[in-house]
Amino acid sequence: KRHLISAADLTRDDAVLILDTAEEMARVADRPIKKLPTLRGRTVVNLFFEDSTRTRISFEAAAKRLSADVINFSAKGSSVSKGESLKDTALTLEAMGADAVVIRHHASGAPYRLANSGWIDGAVVNAGDGTHEHPTQALLDAFTMRRRLVGRDAGIGQDLSGRRITIVGDVLHSRVARSNVHLLTTLGAEVTLVAPPTLVPVGVENWPCEVSYDLDAVLPKSDAVMMLRVQRERMNAAFFPTEREYSRRYGLDGDRMAKMPEHAVVMHPGPMNRGMEITAEVADSDRCTAVEQVANGVSTRMAVLYLLLGGSEPAVTTARTEEN
Ligand code: CP
Repeated sequence: KRHLISAADLTRDDAVLILDTAEEMARVADRPIKKLPTLRGRTVVNLFFEDSTRTRISFEAAAKRLSADVINFSAKGSSVSKGESLKDTALTLEAMGADAVVIRHHASGAPYRLANSGWIDGAVVNAGDGTHEHPTQALLDAFTMRRRLVGRDAGIGQDLSGRRITIVGDVLHSRVARSNVHLLTTLGAEVTLVAPPTLVPVGVENWPCEVSYDLDAVLPKSDAVMMLRVQRERMNAAFFPTEREYSRRYGLDGDRMAKMPEHAVVMHPGPMNRGMEITAEVADSDRCTAVEQVANGVSTRMAVLYLLLGGSEPAVTTARTEEN
């Protein structure tokens, strides 16, 4: 079985193939008729136990553009609220013939459990699990960086060698940061994390990146600066920094953005806390790729679904094989 559980499972060639395939998918999006027949007759289930706007909608759009049948499942309003387990939910989906299950769950490791349980036969795609990983977010971020920093056509077949990426904010709770550190370093980028000491994960010294507490010092050396959302909902209120203190030291405003090289971009996975980690001036500026990232998310997720479910032989090697 092929699954996409962690960005750490992807080799450099896997990742470049996904990005190149996403560029092909983006060309389809530029056409008047945006659909491909590739996954006709296949069923993709979006299984969301946690809230989502971008990821859920873009997986749905991606599957539909590939002509798959799509079933959207949200834990809210389902029998999960009556206490139904992940196993029984999975067996129900299996009975409905799911070829792929895209899962978002509050528990780190839930997609891995689903992929290795034997409860379902289909491919499993991690759409964000707890504070662990969000691999398709990292892929769409890498796609956006490659387009902006290398070029749309020039980027084909290329990685992000030598690019300097800074990831700023609530790293402790960020599955986006974890997946990006894995993927961006696999693609040859140099990654620096900037965070308040209380929001740096234990064991970060074993991650393949630098850590800094001085945003102003790092900005002039960055090709892309990724601002993370402060995840109040995962935080003990006692440790929650005041908005004023946080934004003064770790927020990106117009004055700070001016310290970045002219070619450098500001990224944000969304949803944003405007006024906290990013000011409205920066969020709405031409240098901020947040909306572009959402559009790129559809092409990237089309590529992932295509390569897992419908790709021809060369594509089959894309995501690491995991035996159930
Ligand atoms: N970036 C991201 O995962 O956004 P959603 O939570 O809206 O899916």
